[in-house]
Amino acid sequence: MSAPLLPPIGMLAELTHRCPLQCPYCSNPVELLKANREMDTATWLDLFNQAADLGVLQVHLSGGEPTLRRDLEQLIAGLSARGVYTNLITAGVGIADGRIEAFAAAGLDHVQLSFQGARPETTEMVGNQRGSHDKKLETARRARAAGLPLTINAPIHRHNIDEVPEFIELALSLGAERLEIANVQYSGWALANRDALMPDRASIERQAEIVEAARTRLAGIMNIDFVTPDYYATYPKPCMGGWARDAFMVAPDGTVLPCHAAQTIPSLSFERFGERSLAGIWISSPAFNAFRGTDWMQEPCRSCERREIDWGGCRCQAMAIAGDAAATDPACVKSPIHARMEALARAGIVAADRSAVPGSGFIYRRIGGAPQAENPVPSRPDRALAG
Ligand code: SF4
Ligand code: FES
Repeated sequence: MSAPLLPPIGMLAELTHRCPLQCPYCSNPVELLKANREMDTATWLDLFNQAADLGVLQVHLSGGEPTLRRDLEQLIAGLSARGVYTNLITAGVGIADGRIEAFAAAGLDHVQLSFQGARPETTEMVGNQRGSHDKKLETARRARAAGLPLTINAPIHRHNIDEVPEFIELALSLGAERLEIANVQYSGWALANRDALMPDRASIERQAEIVEAARTRLAGIMNIDFVTPDYYATYPKPCMGGWARDAFMVAPDGTVLPCHAAQTIPSLSFERFGERSLAGIWISSPAFNAFRGTDWMQEPCRSCERREIDWGGCRCQAMAIAGDAAATDPACVKSPIHARMEALARAGIVAADRSAVPGSGFIYRRIGGAPQAENPVPSRPDRALAG
């Protein structure tokens, strides 16, 4: 039986796809939108009001780089006036003097700052910008000085997985209350760069032990969240907490989506805010209802005791690996093609090992057309590998 339709609690607002960095694991779609496709201030404020009316309690202001929006202070103030909790997700480079203080004055509740590496050379290589590490350190200091609680985001892949102990020390030294050690999710640009980014199983196991020990050691001092890697998992994660269950996201042009990679599912079409109200989209959009609850499930999910724990995993990963968005997420041990996940990971590692210079196989994120490999790593269609 399907779960009852509840109001959404969280919303991710991708205010822009513009960004000064070019991380090869960016969760934005490969087809990035230019500035002239972004919604204006009044439309975002209207959307935020409708979100608050619908029940949204938390808005994550993201991008691209959300601080590139000159109206960010106004957007924060609009949300704050409705009593909505605001979290700014930023790369922390190129933020003009006085703006972080202005965000705090407008009512910002929290800052989530990403570091591409714990070492300056890693941050600069992964984000493809010289000097970016020092700018991030400065942003962290300014956020703390403005009285804002801070989370450090550490997206993990083969080029920084050995830096996990240093990430922990870095987050502590910056006064963060939370550190998110998040193994990269392979959709969007990360899927295009999977071979270049994939860590090996031994590194993943070492990382899990380090995180577990640090959690015990730092209990009551700093929280450490750990987003585990799907390619070596036994069970999948409940992606987005379940499709259209309690959260959604909005792209810069107002397209309302159940998750950041939903547009990779070709059978679905998505509505834009303005063409229809937010409540109308949440309640009755065919795309939102496509995988809501459990009625859509096939076996083995349909009769599985975990079906309301992980909601069948990630629809976009099922699409990417199994070629069927309604299939069991291949990260699940019960999926008939589960073995293909680790086979893909291993094949990627072998391919990337041929590239001696770190990062030389990256397709760096950029606006404008299909991605071009700077120095392409050999790739293969997923389905060519035996499961
Ligand atoms: Fe989750 Fe489906 Fe796997 Fe059961 S079979 S654990 S519901 S993904
Ligand atoms: Fe779309 Fe997981 S990213 S359901």
